[in-house]
Amino acid sequence: MKNKTILVTGAAGFIGANFVKYLLKKYDDIKIIILDKLTYAGNLGTIIDEISNPDVEFYKGDIANKELVDLIFAKHDIDYVVNFAAESHVDRSIENPQLFLQTNILGTQNLLDCTKKAWMTGKDDKGYPVYKPGRKYLQVSTDEVYGSLDKKYDTPHPLNIEDEEVRKVVKDRKDLKTYGDTFFTEETNLDPRSPYSASKTGADHIVVAYNETYHLPVNITRCSNNYGPYHFPEKLIPLIIKNILEGKNLPVYGKGDNVRDWLYVEDHAKAIDMVLRKGKVGEVYNVGGFNEETNINIVKLTINTIRELMDESENYHSVLKTDRENINESLITYVGDRLGHDMRYAIDPSKIARELGWYPETPFTDGIRKTIIWYLENQEWVESVVSGDYQKYYDQMYSNR
Ligand SMILES: NC(=O)c1ccc[n+]([C@@H]2O[C@H](COP(=O)([O-])OP(=O)(O)OC[C@H]3O[C@@H](n4cnc5c(N)ncnc54)[C@H](O)[C@@H]3O)[C@@H](O)[C@H]2O)c1
Repeated sequence: MKNKTILVTGAAGFIGANFVKYLLKKYDDIKIIILDKLTYAGNLGTIIDEISNPDVEFYKGDIANKELVDLIFAKHDIDYVVNFAAESHVDRSIENPQLFLQTNILGTQNLLDCTKKAWMTGKDDKGYPVYKPGRKYLQVSTDEVYGSLDKKYDTPHPLNIEDEEVRKVVKDRKDLKTYGDTFFTEETNLDPRSPYSASKTGADHIVVAYNETYHLPVNITRCSNNYGPYHFPEKLIPLIIKNILEGKNLPVYGKGDNVRDWLYVEDHAKAIDMVLRKGKVGEVYNVGGFNEETNINIVKLTINTIRELMDESENYHSVLKTDRENINESLITYVGDRLGHDMRYAIDPSKIARELGWYPETPFTDGIRKTIIWYLENQEWVESVVSGDYQKYYDQMYSNR
Protein backbone atom coordinates (compact mmCIF):
# COMPACT_ATOMS: atom_id res chain seq x y z
CA MET A 1 0.00 0.00 0.00
CA LYS A 2 3.03 2.31 0.18
CA ASN A 3 2.10 5.82 -0.96
CA LYS A 4 -1.12 4.67 -2.59
CA THR A 5 -4.09 6.96 -3.15
CA ILE A 6 -7.42 5.17 -2.88
CA LEU A 7 -10.80 6.49 -3.95
CA VAL A 8 -13.39 4.87 -1.67
CA THR A 9 -17.00 5.50 -2.65
CA GLY A 10 -19.84 4.99 -0.18
CA ALA A 11 -17.43 5.30 2.77
CA ALA A 12 -19.98 7.06 4.98
CA GLY A 13 -21.98 3.82 4.99
CA PHE A 14 -21.50 0.68 7.04
CA ILE A 15 -18.83 -1.38 5.28
CA GLY A 16 -17.07 1.50 3.48
CA ALA A 17 -16.55 3.32 6.78
CA ASN A 18 -15.19 0.19 8.45
CA PHE A 19 -12.87 -0.30 5.48
CA VAL A 20 -11.48 3.25 5.76
CA LYS A 21 -10.96 2.83 9.52
CA TYR A 22 -9.20 -0.48 8.88
CA LEU A 23 -6.86 1.04 6.26
CA LEU A 24 -5.95 4.03 8.43
CA LYS A 25 -5.17 1.75 11.36
CA LYS A 26 -3.03 -0.54 9.24
CA TYR A 27 -1.14 1.88 6.96
CA ASP A 28 0.41 5.25 7.68
CA ASP A 29 1.47 6.01 4.13
CA ILE A 30 -1.81 6.09 2.21
CA LYS A 31 -4.16 8.83 1.06
CA ILE A 32 -7.88 8.23 0.99
CA ILE A 33 -10.39 10.15 -1.11
CA ILE A 34 -14.00 9.57 -0.10
CA LEU A 35 -16.96 10.14 -2.41
CA ASP A 36 -20.37 9.69 -0.81
CA LYS A 37 -23.81 11.06 -1.62
CA LEU A 38 -24.81 10.92 2.05
CA THR A 39 -28.14 9.22 1.47
CA TYR A 40 -30.13 8.20 4.56
CA ALA A 41 -27.60 5.32 4.89
CA GLY A 42 -24.51 7.52 4.77
CA ASN A 43 -23.55 9.42 7.89
CA LEU A 44 -20.73 11.83 8.30
CA GLY A 45 -20.68 11.08 12.02
CA THR A 46 -19.47 7.59 11.23
CA ILE A 47 -16.26 8.96 9.70
CA ILE A 48 -15.98 12.20 11.63
CA ASP A 49 -12.49 11.41 12.99
CA GLU A 50 -11.26 10.12 9.65
CA ILE A 51 -12.26 13.17 7.60
CA SER A 52 -10.32 15.46 9.92
CA ASN A 53 -7.18 13.42 9.12
CA PRO A 54 -5.01 15.38 6.62
CA ASP A 55 -4.58 12.18 4.58
CA VAL A 56 -8.32 11.92 3.96
CA GLU A 57 -10.37 14.13 1.68
CA PHE A 58 -14.15 14.01 1.56
CA TYR A 59 -16.39 14.85 -1.38
CA LYS A 60 -20.15 14.85 -1.10
CA GLY A 61 -21.68 13.65 -4.35
CA ASP A 62 -23.06 10.96 -6.60
CA ILE A 63 -20.96 8.28 -8.30
CA ALA A 64 -23.21 8.90 -11.31
CA ASN A 65 -22.07 12.55 -11.52
CA LYS A 66 -19.55 12.58 -14.37
CA GLU A 67 -18.25 16.12 -13.81
CA LEU A 68 -17.59 15.49 -10.13
CA VAL A 69 -15.88 12.13 -10.63
CA ASP A 70 -13.75 13.59 -13.45
CA LEU A 71 -12.80 16.46 -11.16
CA ILE A 72 -11.73 14.05 -8.41
CA PHE A 73 -9.52 12.16 -10.85
CA ALA A 74 -8.10 15.44 -12.15
CA LYS A 75 -7.18 16.58 -8.64
CA HIS A 76 -5.80 13.28 -7.34
CA ASP A 77 -3.58 10.62 -8.88
CA ILE A 78 -5.76 7.68 -7.84
CA ASP A 79 -4.14 4.23 -7.69
CA TYR A 80 -7.15 2.19 -6.57
CA VAL A 81 -10.92 2.68 -6.74
CA VAL A 82 -13.06 0.69 -4.30
CA ASN A 83 -16.75 1.04 -5.05
CA PHE A 84 -18.97 0.48 -2.01
CA ALA A 85 -21.54 3.14 -3.02
CA ALA A 86 -24.91 1.51 -3.51
CA GLU A 87 -28.49 1.36 -2.48
CA SER A 88 -28.19 -1.71 -0.29
CA HIS A 89 -31.48 -2.56 1.40
CA VAL A 90 -33.55 -5.33 -0.25
CA ASP A 91 -36.82 -4.12 1.31
CA ARG A 92 -36.30 -0.62 -0.09
CA SER A 93 -35.57 -2.13 -3.52
CA ILE A 94 -38.96 -3.83 -3.44
CA GLU A 95 -40.57 -0.42 -2.82
CA ASN A 96 -38.48 1.57 -5.33
CA PRO A 97 -36.54 -0.57 -7.83
CA GLN A 98 -35.61 2.29 -10.17
CA LEU A 99 -33.37 4.08 -7.68
CA PHE A 100 -31.41 0.82 -7.32
CA LEU A 101 -30.85 0.56 -11.07
CA GLN A 102 -29.86 4.22 -11.21
CA THR A 103 -27.23 4.06 -8.46
CA ASN A 104 -26.05 0.49 -8.62
CA ILE A 105 -25.86 0.04 -12.39
CA LEU A 106 -25.62 3.48 -14.00
CA GLY A 107 -23.57 4.89 -11.13
CA THR A 108 -21.11 2.01 -11.39
CA GLN A 109 -20.88 2.42 -15.17
CA ASN A 110 -20.11 6.12 -14.78
CA LEU A 111 -17.42 5.40 -12.21
CA LEU A 112 -15.85 2.81 -14.51
CA ASP A 113 -15.92 5.19 -17.42
CA CYS A 114 -14.27 8.04 -15.51
CA THR A 115 -11.69 5.58 -14.14
CA LYS A 116 -10.90 4.30 -17.63
CA LYS A 117 -10.46 7.83 -18.98
CA ALA A 118 -8.22 8.91 -16.10
CA TRP A 119 -5.95 5.86 -16.20
CA MET A 120 -5.66 5.38 -19.97
CA THR A 121 -2.28 6.29 -21.50
CA GLY A 122 -2.76 5.02 -25.06
CA LYS A 123 -3.67 1.91 -27.05
CA ASP A 124 -1.89 -1.35 -27.84
CA ASP A 125 -1.40 -2.70 -31.37
CA LYS A 126 -4.80 -4.44 -31.25
CA GLY A 127 -6.57 -1.24 -30.25
CA TYR A 128 -7.10 -2.10 -26.57
CA PRO A 129 -6.53 0.73 -24.08
CA VAL A 130 -3.29 0.70 -22.10
CA TYR A 131 -3.29 2.08 -18.56
CA LYS A 132 -0.94 3.63 -16.03
CA PRO A 133 0.77 0.72 -14.22
CA GLY A 134 -0.36 -0.67 -10.86
CA ARG A 135 -3.95 0.60 -11.00
CA LYS A 136 -7.03 -1.35 -9.97
CA TYR A 137 -10.80 -0.89 -9.75
CA LEU A 138 -12.51 -3.11 -7.15
CA GLN A 139 -16.28 -3.62 -7.22
CA VAL A 140 -17.78 -4.61 -3.87
CA SER A 141 -20.53 -7.06 -4.72
CA THR A 142 -22.67 -9.51 -2.82
CA ASP A 143 -23.47 -13.23 -2.57
CA GLU A 144 -27.08 -12.29 -3.42
CA VAL A 145 -26.17 -12.14 -7.14
CA TYR A 146 -26.01 -15.96 -7.10
CA GLY A 147 -29.68 -16.36 -6.17
CA SER A 148 -30.90 -18.81 -3.56
CA LEU A 149 -29.77 -22.27 -2.41
CA ASP A 150 -31.78 -25.17 -1.00
CA LYS A 151 -31.83 -25.66 2.72
CA LYS A 152 -31.26 -29.32 3.50
CA TYR A 153 -31.14 -29.34 7.31
CA ASP A 154 -33.41 -27.74 9.93
CA THR A 155 -30.52 -27.47 12.38
CA PRO A 156 -26.92 -26.50 11.61
CA HIS A 157 -24.48 -29.29 10.72
CA PRO A 158 -20.72 -29.10 11.26
CA LEU A 159 -18.96 -28.05 8.07
CA ASN A 160 -15.95 -30.11 7.06
CA ILE A 161 -13.50 -28.44 4.73
CA GLU A 162 -12.24 -31.07 2.35
CA ASP A 163 -9.56 -29.08 0.55
CA GLU A 164 -6.28 -29.64 2.43
CA GLU A 165 -4.85 -26.23 1.47
CA VAL A 166 -7.96 -24.37 2.61
CA ARG A 167 -8.05 -26.38 5.85
CA LYS A 168 -4.53 -25.21 6.60
CA VAL A 169 -5.50 -21.55 6.13
CA VAL A 170 -8.62 -21.88 8.29
CA LYS A 171 -6.60 -23.63 11.01
CA ASP A 172 -7.86 -21.94 14.16
CA ARG A 173 -11.57 -21.78 13.32
CA LYS A 174 -13.37 -24.82 14.70
CA ASP A 175 -17.03 -23.76 14.76
CA LEU A 176 -17.87 -23.88 11.03
CA LYS A 177 -21.47 -24.78 10.22
CA THR A 178 -23.91 -25.20 7.35
CA TYR A 179 -27.57 -25.85 6.58
CA GLY A 180 -26.94 -27.60 3.25
CA ASP A 181 -24.40 -29.24 1.04
CA THR A 182 -24.36 -26.82 -1.89
CA PHE A 183 -22.45 -23.54 -1.91
CA PHE A 184 -21.89 -20.49 -4.10
CA THR A 185 -18.52 -20.61 -5.83
CA GLU A 186 -17.15 -18.03 -8.27
CA GLU A 187 -18.36 -20.33 -11.09
CA THR A 188 -21.99 -20.43 -9.90
CA ASN A 189 -24.36 -18.86 -12.45
CA LEU A 190 -25.65 -15.42 -11.55
CA ASP A 191 -29.36 -15.78 -10.78
CA PRO A 192 -30.59 -12.73 -8.86
CA ARG A 193 -34.18 -12.64 -7.55
CA SER A 194 -34.74 -9.22 -5.96
CA PRO A 195 -34.48 -5.76 -7.54
CA TYR A 196 -31.46 -5.17 -5.24
CA SER A 197 -29.61 -8.32 -6.28
CA ALA A 198 -30.58 -7.81 -9.94
CA SER A 199 -29.07 -4.31 -9.83
CA LYS A 200 -25.87 -5.59 -8.18
CA THR A 201 -25.68 -8.32 -10.86
CA GLY A 202 -26.07 -5.67 -13.58
CA ALA A 203 -23.17 -3.80 -12.00
CA ASP A 204 -21.02 -6.96 -11.91
CA HIS A 205 -21.71 -7.63 -15.59
CA ILE A 206 -20.71 -4.11 -16.58
CA VAL A 207 -17.49 -4.39 -14.52
CA VAL A 208 -16.63 -7.62 -16.35
CA ALA A 209 -17.50 -5.93 -19.66
CA TYR A 210 -15.03 -3.09 -18.94
CA ASN A 211 -12.36 -5.68 -18.21
CA GLU A 212 -13.05 -7.76 -21.35
CA THR A 213 -13.73 -4.91 -23.76
CA TYR A 214 -11.34 -2.24 -22.51
CA HIS A 215 -8.89 -4.35 -20.46
CA LEU A 216 -9.61 -2.15 -17.42
CA PRO A 217 -7.83 -3.79 -14.45
CA VAL A 218 -10.63 -4.89 -12.14
CA ASN A 219 -11.55 -7.27 -9.35
CA ILE A 220 -14.98 -8.17 -8.00
CA THR A 221 -15.51 -9.38 -4.44
CA ARG A 222 -18.80 -11.08 -3.54
CA CYS A 223 -19.39 -11.17 0.17
CA SER A 224 -22.01 -12.65 2.47
CA ASN A 225 -24.01 -10.73 5.12
CA ASN A 226 -21.84 -8.42 7.20
CA TYR A 227 -22.40 -7.40 10.80
CA GLY A 228 -20.50 -5.11 13.16
CA PRO A 229 -20.24 -1.47 14.32
CA TYR A 230 -21.82 1.44 12.40
CA HIS A 231 -24.53 -0.71 10.77
CA PHE A 232 -27.64 1.36 10.03
CA PRO A 233 -30.47 0.13 12.28
CA GLU A 234 -32.80 -0.95 9.49
CA LYS A 235 -30.83 -4.16 8.87
CA LEU A 236 -31.54 -7.29 10.94
CA ILE A 237 -28.87 -7.29 13.68
CA PRO A 238 -28.73 -3.55 14.53
CA LEU A 239 -32.52 -3.30 14.30
CA ILE A 240 -32.96 -6.20 16.70
CA ILE A 241 -30.43 -4.72 19.14
CA LYS A 242 -32.18 -1.32 19.04
CA ASN A 243 -35.64 -2.83 19.56
CA ILE A 244 -34.51 -5.07 22.42
CA LEU A 245 -33.01 -2.08 24.25
CA GLU A 246 -36.27 -0.19 23.75
CA GLY A 247 -38.46 -3.16 24.74
CA LYS A 248 -40.12 -3.15 21.30
CA ASN A 249 -41.32 -6.13 19.26
CA LEU A 250 -38.71 -7.93 17.18
CA PRO A 251 -40.17 -8.40 13.69
CA VAL A 252 -39.09 -11.66 12.03
CA TYR A 253 -40.11 -12.46 8.44
CA GLY A 254 -42.13 -15.65 7.82
CA LYS A 255 -40.99 -18.44 10.13
CA GLY A 256 -37.51 -16.97 10.58
CA ASP A 257 -36.03 -20.03 8.89
CA ASN A 258 -34.18 -18.25 6.07
CA VAL A 259 -30.44 -18.85 6.26
CA ARG A 260 -27.67 -16.31 5.75
CA ASP A 261 -23.90 -16.59 6.10
CA TRP A 262 -22.59 -13.94 8.55
CA LEU A 263 -19.17 -12.28 8.44
CA TYR A 264 -17.69 -9.75 10.88
CA VAL A 265 -17.20 -6.52 8.93
CA GLU A 266 -13.50 -6.14 9.78
CA ASP A 267 -12.84 -9.53 8.18
CA HIS A 268 -14.50 -8.20 5.02
CA ALA A 269 -12.31 -5.08 5.13
CA LYS A 270 -9.26 -7.31 5.42
CA ALA A 271 -10.37 -9.36 2.40
CA ILE A 272 -10.80 -6.26 0.24
CA ASP A 273 -7.38 -4.97 1.25
CA MET A 274 -5.84 -8.34 0.27
CA VAL A 275 -7.64 -8.50 -3.07
CA LEU A 276 -6.53 -4.94 -3.87
CA ARG A 277 -2.90 -5.75 -3.14
CA LYS A 278 -2.64 -9.36 -4.26
CA GLY A 279 -5.75 -10.31 -6.25
CA LYS A 280 -5.19 -11.40 -9.84
CA VAL A 281 -6.54 -8.79 -12.25
CA GLY A 282 -9.89 -9.74 -13.79
CA GLU A 283 -10.75 -12.27 -11.07
CA VAL A 284 -13.80 -12.62 -8.84
CA TYR A 285 -13.28 -13.56 -5.17
CA ASN A 286 -16.04 -14.88 -2.92
CA VAL A 287 -15.79 -13.75 0.72
CA GLY A 288 -17.75 -15.56 3.42
CA GLY A 289 -17.81 -16.53 7.05
CA PHE A 290 -18.33 -20.34 7.01
CA ASN A 291 -21.05 -19.28 9.42
CA GLU A 292 -24.60 -20.01 8.28
CA GLU A 293 -27.45 -19.26 10.62
CA THR A 294 -31.23 -18.89 10.47
CA ASN A 295 -32.68 -15.45 11.11
CA ILE A 296 -34.60 -16.72 14.14
CA ASN A 297 -31.43 -18.10 15.74
CA ILE A 298 -29.68 -14.78 15.13
CA VAL A 299 -32.50 -13.00 16.95
CA LYS A 300 -32.43 -15.47 19.87
CA LEU A 301 -28.65 -15.26 20.18
CA THR A 302 -28.85 -11.46 20.21
CA ILE A 303 -31.47 -11.53 22.99
CA ASN A 304 -29.39 -13.94 25.06
CA THR A 305 -26.15 -11.99 24.56
CA ILE A 306 -27.77 -8.70 25.60
CA ARG A 307 -29.22 -10.40 28.69
CA GLU A 308 -25.80 -11.81 29.61
CA LEU A 309 -24.14 -8.42 29.17
CA MET A 310 -26.78 -6.77 31.37
CA ASP A 311 -26.12 -9.40 34.06
CA GLU A 312 -22.37 -8.89 33.77
CA SER A 313 -22.24 -5.12 34.00
CA GLU A 314 -24.48 -2.58 35.67
CA ASN A 315 -22.90 0.10 33.48
CA TYR A 316 -25.11 -0.97 30.60
CA HIS A 317 -28.39 -0.66 32.49
CA SER A 318 -28.67 3.07 31.78
CA VAL A 319 -28.97 2.27 28.05
CA LEU A 320 -32.16 0.27 28.59
CA LYS A 321 -35.48 1.95 27.89
CA THR A 322 -37.33 -1.05 29.28
CA ASP A 323 -37.09 -3.33 32.34
CA ARG A 324 -34.37 -5.99 32.21
CA GLU A 325 -37.03 -8.69 32.70
CA ASN A 326 -38.55 -7.72 29.35
CA ILE A 327 -35.47 -8.89 27.46
CA ASN A 328 -36.73 -12.29 26.43
CA GLU A 329 -38.07 -14.25 23.49
CA SER A 330 -41.63 -13.02 23.99
CA LEU A 331 -40.54 -9.90 22.08
CA ILE A 332 -40.28 -11.97 18.88
CA THR A 333 -43.14 -11.18 16.48
CA TYR A 334 -43.53 -13.10 13.24
CA VAL A 335 -44.60 -10.89 10.34
CA GLY A 336 -45.69 -11.66 6.74
CA ASP A 337 -42.75 -12.86 4.65
CA ARG A 338 -40.71 -10.57 2.36
CA LEU A 339 -41.79 -10.90 -1.29
CA GLY A 340 -39.50 -13.32 -3.14
CA HIS A 341 -37.52 -14.03 0.04
CA ASP A 342 -34.40 -16.07 -0.85
CA MET A 343 -34.16 -19.19 1.37
CA ARG A 344 -30.44 -19.75 1.81
CA TYR A 345 -27.15 -18.07 0.92
CA ALA A 346 -23.90 -19.95 1.52
CA ILE A 347 -20.55 -18.75 0.21
CA ASP A 348 -17.60 -21.00 -0.46
CA PRO A 349 -14.56 -18.73 0.15
CA SER A 350 -11.99 -21.43 -0.73
CA LYS A 351 -10.50 -19.47 -3.63
CA ILE A 352 -9.55 -16.41 -1.57
CA ALA A 353 -8.27 -18.69 1.20
CA ARG A 354 -6.17 -20.76 -1.19
CA GLU A 355 -4.86 -17.94 -3.38
CA LEU A 356 -4.53 -15.03 -0.96
CA GLY A 357 -4.43 -16.68 2.48
CA TRP A 358 -7.60 -14.93 3.72
CA TYR A 359 -10.04 -16.59 6.08
CA PRO A 360 -12.85 -15.35 8.37
CA GLU A 361 -10.94 -14.82 11.61
CA THR A 362 -13.74 -13.72 13.93
CA PRO A 363 -15.94 -16.51 15.35
CA PHE A 364 -19.59 -15.44 15.36
CA THR A 365 -20.04 -15.62 19.14
CA ASP A 366 -17.08 -13.21 19.59
CA GLY A 367 -18.18 -10.94 16.76
CA ILE A 368 -21.78 -10.59 17.90
CA ARG A 369 -20.64 -9.83 21.46
CA LYS A 370 -18.23 -7.14 20.23
CA THR A 371 -20.98 -5.72 18.03
CA ILE A 372 -23.54 -5.55 20.81
CA ILE A 373 -21.04 -3.96 23.21
CA TRP A 374 -20.29 -1.36 20.53
CA TYR A 375 -23.99 -0.52 20.23
CA LEU A 376 -24.40 -0.36 24.01
CA GLU A 377 -21.52 2.10 24.18
CA ASN A 378 -22.49 4.15 21.11
CA GLN A 379 -26.16 4.93 21.60
CA GLU A 380 -25.53 8.56 20.61
CA TRP A 381 -24.49 7.38 17.15
CA VAL A 382 -27.67 5.31 16.83
CA GLU A 383 -29.87 8.22 17.87
CA SER A 384 -28.11 10.61 15.50
CA VAL A 385 -28.33 8.42 12.43
CA VAL A 386 -31.95 7.59 13.08
CA SER A 387 -32.88 11.24 13.60
CA GLY A 388 -30.77 12.48 10.69
CA ASP A 389 -28.75 14.80 12.96
CA TYR A 390 -25.56 14.18 11.03
CA GLN A 391 -27.24 15.37 7.85
CA LYS A 392 -27.98 18.65 9.63
CA TYR A 393 -24.39 18.70 10.88
CA TYR A 394 -23.16 18.28 7.32
CA ASP A 395 -25.30 21.14 6.10
CA GLN A 396 -23.94 23.40 8.85
CA MET A 397 -20.36 22.36 8.29
CA TYR A 398 -20.22 22.46 4.52
CA SER A 399 -22.98 24.75 3.28
CA ASN A 400 -20.68 27.80 3.07
CA ARG A 401 -17.74 26.05 1.42
N1 LIG B 1 -24.20 -5.00 4.15
C1 LIG B 1 -23.90 -6.22 3.73
O1 LIG B 1 -24.09 -7.20 4.44
C2 LIG B 1 -23.27 -6.41 2.36
C3 LIG B 1 -22.83 -7.68 1.99
C4 LIG B 1 -22.20 -7.85 0.77
C5 LIG B 1 -22.02 -6.77 -0.07
N2 LIG B 1 -22.47 -5.55 0.29
C6 LIG B 1 -22.22 -4.41 -0.62
O2 LIG B 1 -21.28 -3.57 0.03
C7 LIG B 1 -21.52 -2.22 -0.30
C8 LIG B 1 -21.68 -1.39 0.96
O3 LIG B 1 -22.77 -1.91 1.73
P1 LIG B 1 -23.24 -1.23 3.08
O4 LIG B 1 -23.98 -2.23 3.85
O5 LIG B 1 -22.08 -0.53 3.69
O6 LIG B 1 -24.25 -0.14 2.51
P2 LIG B 1 -24.83 1.15 3.20
O7 LIG B 1 -26.22 1.29 2.68
O8 LIG B 1 -24.61 1.14 4.67
O9 LIG B 1 -23.93 2.34 2.61
C9 LIG B 1 -23.99 2.75 1.28
C10 LIG B 1 -23.26 4.06 1.16
O10 LIG B 1 -23.29 4.47 -0.21
C11 LIG B 1 -23.66 5.84 -0.28
N3 LIG B 1 -24.34 6.05 -1.56
C12 LIG B 1 -25.55 5.57 -1.94
N4 LIG B 1 -25.82 5.98 -3.19
C13 LIG B 1 -24.75 6.72 -3.62
C14 LIG B 1 -24.42 7.37 -4.84
N5 LIG B 1 -25.26 7.38 -5.86
N6 LIG B 1 -23.23 8.01 -4.91
C15 LIG B 1 -22.37 8.04 -3.86
N7 LIG B 1 -22.63 7.43 -2.69
C16 LIG B 1 -23.81 6.77 -2.57
C17 LIG B 1 -24.58 6.05 0.91
O11 LIG B 1 -24.67 7.43 1.28
C18 LIG B 1 -23.89 5.19 1.97
O12 LIG B 1 -22.89 5.93 2.64
C19 LIG B 1 -22.74 -2.21 -1.20
O13 LIG B 1 -22.32 -2.14 -2.52
C20 LIG B 1 -23.42 -3.54 -0.93
O14 LIG B 1 -24.11 -4.00 -2.06
C21 LIG B 1 -23.09 -5.34 1.49
